[in-house]
Amino acid sequence: MSPSCGHHASSLCCMLIGLLCLSHAGAAMGFAWLPDNDELRSAFSVARTNSMEGGPKMTVTFDTVYVNIGGDFDPKTGLFRCRIPGAYYFSFTVGKFPHKDLSVMLMKNRNEVQAIVYEENAGEERKVQSQSVMLQLEFGDTIWLRLHGDPRYALYSNTGHYTTFNGFLIYADTYDYQTNHPQQQRPAYSSQNNQATGDVGSDLKNTVGEKETQQDDEEEQEEEEDPRSAFSVGRTQSIIGVNQAGMPQHQPVSFDTAFVNIGEDFNVTEGIFMCRVPGAYYFSFNVGKLPQKTLSVKLMKNHLEVQAMIYDDSHGEKALQSQSLMLSLKPGDTVWLYSHQRDGFGAYSNHAKYITFTGFLVYPHLAATTAINATGQSHADKNP
Ligand SMILES: *[C@@H]1O[C@H](CO)[C@@H](O)[C@H](O)[C@H]1NC(C)=O
Ligand SMILES: *[C@@H]1O[C@H](CO)[C@@H](O)[C@H](O)[C@H]1NC(C)=O
Repeated sequence: MSPSCGHHASSLCCMLIGLLCLSHAGAAMGFAWLPDNDELRSAFSVARTNSMEGGPKMTVTFDTVYVNIGGDFDPKTGLFRCRIPGAYYFSFTVGKFPHKDLSVMLMKNRNEVQAIVYEENAGEERKVQSQSVMLQLEFGDTIWLRLHGDPRYALYSNTGHYTTFNGFLIYADTYDYQTNHPQQQRPAYSSQNNQATGDVGSDLKNTVGEKETQQDDEEEQEEEEDPRSAFSVGRTQSIIGVNQAGMPQHQPVSFDTAFVNIGEDFNVTEGIFMCRVPGAYYFSFNVGKLPQKTLSVKLMKNHLEVQAMIYDDSHGEKALQSQSLMLSLKPGDTVWLYSHQRDGFGAYSNHAKYITFTGFLVYPHLAATTAINATGQSHADKNP
């Protein structure tokens, strides 16, 4: 418990402070991903009411704006322009046009492909495909969706909004989380936090400002860890299951691209996230389907506890499947993806990154107040 809480008789106040901060230093920033100052907010959610065919103009634009906090998304040009440097979560869903293929990429700046939605299926059906990643952005970086320029491709939408695009800031770079020392230019955090947390904010200001208390402060800070945790990774290669004696069992899906790894809690080569900050985490993953192979990818916790899965045993061509979940984790818990390893199973990816895996801390410290009974867990190889 923060030492500052001891000053307050009111339990409500203590609860508030407990919610707002991990520690007295935490009070300076509130929730990193729920900044309480307008200047540190950025979020958009937009939709498109009509279809679009592949052509010279490849940027997907939008005509319905649900949310545009900070005004960083320009629906007419389809460009999100980063105003607040930091880590952003993006997700998009696009409709597949009847008798057309679907290929929509999430782009950074001019030409940097981040991830893809793809469906190779000129059938008459309409359906949607989704993708999501977290990206670390600098001031002025642009993020947009690109439809393949060939008229063989199209995306479908109507007033029911098959095609949507969302993004929001999770961790702003304006606070030096590693040392918990406020940076010099930090107009955003301090004033509002003083209001929100009573004298905790001014306590902090004093501690940071006065030399004699600084020593104390630093000693405490050695035990304080980075209260942030977020990763987003991609894989550029397919996974093919094979029947082979002596193969290691239940290998996690490994990754070769790290978009974000704040707190370094994700081991990219191993493919394993290990919880350091206890709390509630949001996870999402997207996986490509290989023609002629069954897609079975599970979100695993610890040894072999299945949490959620993606499955597709259709005979269709390349496509994408998505899943997302929140988990309450305690330190040391591991979370990873498992693709069924036997012959006949597999997952598709290439340089455009069909396979992505993202996770971030939503609320710290829920573990203590959440009773989790481990029920409904199945073994990795059951119900592939
Ligand atoms: C990731 O795991 C591998 C294998 O266990 C290990 O050798 C490597 O040091 C780890 N990487 C990091 C950054 O911890
Ligand atoms: C659920 O939690 C309670 C209390 O800890 C325990 O007694 C019970 O055995 C648990 N049930 C299961 C199915 O784990």
